[in-house]
Amino acid sequence: KMRIGVLTSGGDSPGMNAAVRSIVRVAISRGCEAYAIFEGYKGLVNGGDMIKKFEWGDVRGYLAIGGTLIGTARCAAFRERKGRLSSAYNLIKNKINSLIVCGGDGSLTGANALREEWPGLLSELIEEGRITAEEAEPYKHLIIVGLVGSIDNDMSSTDITIGATTSLHRICEAVDSISSTALSHSRAFVIEVMGRHCGWLALMAAVSCGADFVFIPERPPTRDDWESDICEVLERHRRLGKRKTIVIVAEGAIDKNLKPIKSEYIKELLTNRMGLDTRVTTLGHTQRGGRPCTFDRNLATIQGVEAVEAVLRSTPDTPSPLIGVRQNKITCDPLMLAVEKTNKIAEAIAQKNFRLAMDLRDPEFTE
Ligand code: F6P
Repeated sequence: KMRIGVLTSGGDSPGMNAAVRSIVRVAISRGCEAYAIFEGYKGLVNGGDMIKKFEWGDVRGYLAIGGTLIGTARCAAFRERKGRLSSAYNLIKNKINSLIVCGGDGSLTGANALREEWPGLLSELIEEGRITAEEAEPYKHLIIVGLVGSIDNDMSSTDITIGATTSLHRICEAVDSISSTALSHSRAFVIEVMGRHCGWLALMAAVSCGADFVFIPERPPTRDDWESDICEVLERHRRLGKRKTIVIVAEGAIDKNLKPIKSEYIKELLTNRMGLDTRVTTLGHTQRGGRPCTFDRNLATIQGVEAVEAVLRSTPDTPSPLIGVRQNKITCDPLMLAVEKTNKIAEAIAQKNFRLAMDLRDPEFTE
């Protein structure tokens, strides 16, 4: 009998609860048992009452709630082999033979590391006398399946991650609110949005809200004197009759020498060179919290179904799958290929190969 553990890890994202609900209920419908592992990998390392069997009713009301009700944590202990050894022990003690992890690329890499080390971890537990060889026998293979929960939309191999659409809505509402007060006072606003190393939220928000300028990590300004370029654009917009100026800055925005472009710096530029009455608004964690939009609820629900099916299909030889969505179809690809491609984008940026970074993000991208 499959006993499926589910955990959410890394930064929370709206829709994670819908994923947990779907996994628990589909698992039960397919004759499996579902176990919630609380506080991400921390629950796996600590075990005890942080691992709990979930019934149908335990996820009632989950769909509409933001964040993750089973908790998440950034867990240093799981990054050590010792932490993963306790995790293996707790999985076996709870008779859990497969794990579905909903998180970002770091969390999914961790999951895959656990699977790769699994045989070694089992031998070590037997040698240490913590479990017997008979106890270990039914757990020779651990099945891992990944779902991407991240507001940043920063994972390769999927068009969209769980939570990104809700976050984008949140940002657009905030920019709309700022726009009306900016318009009244004829002010400029520099709005900083999340997205660590990924400009998706910033770029999509800029398009959706008609911002005047946007800074993203994947495509820094090309000219040395880019400050003059932005002022020229903003001045032209003002000459055309715009009473407000909106500049969106991704938190990871950089110049072509990889130096961070800070919102305060843009504010000084707009104030001193253009004489604009400028304010900075950092949207912060309002972008990450709150109710998931319908798209994220549906995406997480459908991907949860596919995640359980992937568990049931998996064999010891199949690489751990990652559930994604491309061109409106749910996909199931090797997890590590997606992680490797995602890491290549960061490498391309670090090597100042911005064209490659943009191409890796979006192969359809043209100048
Ligand atoms: O990865 C999601 C994200 O929201 C990033 O956009 C942001 O940089 C980061 O998490 C903030 O994380 P925290 O405040 O949880 O440390």
